[in-house]
Amino acid sequence: MRIGVIGSAGKIGQMRVATILSEPKAELVGVMDVSREMAERHSHGAPAFTALDEFLAVPMDAVVISTPAHVREPLCLAAFKAGLHVLTEKPLSNTVEGARRIRAAGCAAGKQLGAGFNMRYYPAFSYVKDVMDSGQIGEIDHIRIYGGHEGLGKFAHDWEYQSKFSGGGALWDVGIHMTDMARHLMGEISRVYGVATNKVWKVEGSEDNAMAVFTAPSGLSATYQASWNDWNGYKSMVEVYGSKGMVRGVYAPMRNDLIVMDRPGGAQRRSTKRYLDIAVREKLKSWKATAVQSFADELADFIGLVEGRKGLRIADGDAGLRAVEVAAALPVSTRTGQPVELEILGAGRA
Ligand SMILES: NC(=O)c1ccc[n+]([C@@H]2O[C@H](COP(=O)([O-])OP(=O)(O)OC[C@H]3O[C@@H](n4cnc5c(N)ncnc54)[C@H](O)[C@@H]3O)[C@@H](O)[C@H]2O)c1
Repeated sequence: MRIGVIGSAGKIGQMRVATILSEPKAELVGVMDVSREMAERHSHGAPAFTALDEFLAVPMDAVVISTPAHVREPLCLAAFKAGLHVLTEKPLSNTVEGARRIRAAGCAAGKQLGAGFNMRYYPAFSYVKDVMDSGQIGEIDHIRIYGGHEGLGKFAHDWEYQSKFSGGGALWDVGIHMTDMARHLMGEISRVYGVATNKVWKVEGSEDNAMAVFTAPSGLSATYQASWNDWNGYKSMVEVYGSKGMVRGVYAPMRNDLIVMDRPGGAQRRSTKRYLDIAVREKLKSWKATAVQSFADELADFIGLVEGRKGLRIADGDAGLRAVEVAAALPVSTRTGQPVELEILGAGRA
């Protein structure tokens, strides 16, 4: 697959370029960023552009868009118009309307839209999904999901936390991966009920904490929290409780805990996975090594999606849109004190 990267000189864009270069089924055919100097510095010999029309004139099959969310929509729309498949970073857009337009453009063009929820590929979280699907922990009763970090000190740019660019706070940032994780495990999120607070950082329109109950059409529910004042540092956690056990996935560090019983309350078999190889790799190369591996796995699935393979782990356009809709719904629930019902997205193609 011939792939171009927009936002190629950024922190994540550089990692995306690296994964394309190391994927045997992919070829880096062009890069684009805001200045020629930046684009060329990280092009690895591929043609470098600053103008979208010149970049899109390069023969290619797909584009990876690693820009901030608030500039993403025209880039996605132009890529679909040019007949390309698109893999974009999260959040799909900084507005619900923008996310809907991006998804609709992908559907109209008949092209694939991948939403960059790469945490689905973190081994601790893929393990949770696989255990849940295997039936080992019995009938699934409920889910607990958490994502948090210390908030504003984590950000290098205003666009990462100011709501006019980011869409909002913790829900749109660290939390959006875990919103997607909830949907990935539950099937769909069709009701959102909760409270968003803004007492710590006081950035207008950007919640510090979001505490919610998500419900799926099946009735399965998840408790959820996204936080910008987790003073212990970056942490994501998923727990799934079933009638015959539970499974937990945590990052960082990467870890799983599993309890399996033959019946509710029966004798327990407990096991833990600690991923020492990942701990050592992160010690030597930082968290980026884990992220790059997840981007590589995601890219392989994106290529599979375009090839028409089914049952892949990759997040599609529905996932990208629903995560944004959930983030926008929670402040509404906070204001009204009522749950927000969300239409089931169905089998939209993009
Ligand atoms: N999945 C993850 O693990 C993860 C982690 C961090 C960030 N992200 C997401 O990745 C995206 C980029 O974040 P980042 O930290 O790499 O930011 P960054 O600022 O380091 O990189 C963004 C790049 O996009 C370029 N850019 C901006 N507007 C552009 C335009 N109109 N055309 C072409 N290039 C443009 C910038 O010059 C920059 O090189 C964001 O959406 C962010 O939310 C994802």
